[in-house]
Amino acid sequence: MRLTAAQKEQFDREGYLFFPALFTPEEMKNLNDEVPELYERREAYNVREKGKDAVRTNFGAHLYSEPFAKLARHPRMIEPVEDLFGESLYMHQFKINGKMAFEGDVWQWHQDYGTWLNDDMMPTERAMNVAIFLDDVNDYNGPLMFIPGSHKKGVVDAKHDLTTTSYPLWTVDNELIGQLVDRAGGKPGYDEAGRPVGGGIVSPKGPAGSMILFHSCLVHASGSNLTPFNRVSVYLSLCAVSNHIRRHKRPEFIAHRDFTPIETLPDDCLLKHYPVDLPWKDGLPASAMETSLEEIKPELQAA
Ligand code: SIN
Ligand code: MN
Repeated sequence: MRLTAAQKEQFDREGYLFFPALFTPEEMKNLNDEVPELYERREAYNVREKGKDAVRTNFGAHLYSEPFAKLARHPRMIEPVEDLFGESLYMHQFKINGKMAFEGDVWQWHQDYGTWLNDDMMPTERAMNVAIFLDDVNDYNGPLMFIPGSHKKGVVDAKHDLTTTSYPLWTVDNELIGQLVDRAGGKPGYDEAGRPVGGGIVSPKGPAGSMILFHSCLVHASGSNLTPFNRVSVYLSLCAVSNHIRRHKRPEFIAHRDFTPIETLPDDCLLKHYPVDLPWKDGLPASAMETSLEEIKPELQAA
């Protein structure tokens, strides 16, 4: 799937593109069916909500689950990003976020590249998020919120929040969020005639199978999920190969260390069998838990 000139222009301006119902319910079925068993596993790669059993994020499923390994190579996800970067991609991070009914906690306002820079020493913002909805996303079950155009600010000030949720995140303070929202069109509301005005926060919603591409500097967040409806979504964080991380401060299941370019599968890969590598099928290797604060020189990594 390639982007049109108008889509590229929109992405540049807004920092995201939304593709409602890009995948069919049949294509989503095997992915959805796999999630409960993956979430049941008592493994380091399942991060649970603070003080709860519900899974907040499952990391690295493309390395041990066949349906997700195929999704990670899907041309509808990989090609548009290759097209935007003009370069091959590797998988920097792969997660299945639960945002489970009644239990799903907030994601504070943040930029993903802020974390990838501060923690992983990713040199530039040439990395992209691709989200796929496994459940319908509506107004109520904690949809993602974006501040359109906020990616144009580059990396903004952030603080390392280790306490709000179970997952450490570099977060943006409320004052700066207020300024960015004003700059983007201000409070979403209504004029005297009841017409909607103000586009400072947007929130793409749609059926399971919808896809969002969003810039790694786009400021985003989501509220908690107080509804009886799960909001499971998959996030691929795709990095240009030349922009690979330079530090392994975080375990490998969170920030991957294999910079091999992704090779796409055929477009029907979610409906048919195609062989895929599942290197962590029999468990997480001990090396995936090893971390270091050392900067890794690219020459050494190539050796
Ligand atoms: C994220 O920002 O990485 C996840 C946000 C969400 O799932 O709502
Ligand atoms: Mn994020």
